[in-house]
Amino acid sequence: MKTIFSGIQPSGMLTIGNYLGAMKHFVDLQEDHECYFCIVDEHAITVPQDRLKLRDNIRSLAALYLASGIDPDKSTLFIQSEVPAHTQLGWMMQTVSYIGELERMTQFKDKSAGKDGVSAALLTYPPLMTADILLYNTNIVPVGEDQKQHLELARNLAQRFNRKYNDIFTLPEISIPKVGARIMSLQEPTKKMSKSDENQKASIFMLDDPKKIEKKIKSAVTDSEGIVKFDKANKPGISNLLTIYASFTGDSIKDIESKFEGIGYGPFKQATADVVIETLQPIQEHYQALISSPELDHILDNGAEKASLIANKTLAKAKKAMGLARVRKDK
Ligand code: TYM
Repeated sequence: MKTIFSGIQPSGMLTIGNYLGAMKHFVDLQEDHECYFCIVDEHAITVPQDRLKLRDNIRSLAALYLASGIDPDKSTLFIQSEVPAHTQLGWMMQTVSYIGELERMTQFKDKSAGKDGVSAALLTYPPLMTADILLYNTNIVPVGEDQKQHLELARNLAQRFNRKYNDIFTLPEISIPKVGARIMSLQEPTKKMSKSDENQKASIFMLDDPKKIEKKIKSAVTDSEGIVKFDKANKPGISNLLTIYASFTGDSIKDIESKFEGIGYGPFKQATADVVIETLQPIQEHYQALISSPELDHILDNGAEKASLIANKTLAKAKKAMGLARVRKDK
């Protein structure tokens, strides 16, 4: 059975971009893969965080994973900082990373542009991400399109380590969904929808109530043509809504275009809001039942224990390959 690893940062409330690009696929993949899903809190602290909000976001993300359908009997769900092997191997992967290649990462450039006091950890984010993946002998990493560059670097770092030390790491493949890999902002549809967008109208959050969802979709930026047609270059707003509709329903873009032919944007936007609400409502109900439950803590404890077992084995191999620690003479 192939192994899957993926992570999500608890850096704010999840958007439907995170759901459609990543989470939704995790739920399908757990049926026939060995799956590890991580709440990457150590990645979140590469930019400033309010400690109390971070704590809430970590728990909230754990509850959302489960509410969306991650089954703890099938998948291992855990918090990154509860498995110390991640930062340990992350450090070791930094030694095979070049500053130049880290500086070329789009995410680093975007997040550091025009900022003072950019943390060193923001630069060394990708070797930690590489460690996350390599610790579990991961075969496939399902992510949205924005993580492609990090995944390519992860493969390079793994190969570099294997060549330099010992051939111990499995090379991970990236898996990006055909539809929904890059959900765009509702307000600026040429920009990615993001948890951290300051404009609240730009993103639909997983816990937004139906009224809010309807309002946000109705005020989504479109064009004045009045034709529901997929054309990313000339109609980015409508194309984004079509993608959202298609990802939530599984219908093809062609079928949706035909369905709304000659009808105009008003009814199309209403129908899009309806399909989003239909999927999110049961997730939200499940979330409310989980968020304060002790069951959530048991699941995360078990997850950290199970993850540590595998992670520590890989870490030991990597330490040995690099010559860290000592050879015992007392055994
Ligand atoms: P993060 O927390 O930014 O996003 C979590 C997942 O959601 C996807 N995603 C999107 N997909 C479609 N449309 C969007 N607008 C959109 N926004 C986000 C992301 O591609 C991602 O799959 N570096 C990672 C976290 C991470 C990780 C890992 C992932 C740390 N270690 C190891 C995979 C494997 C991140 O910041 O994701």
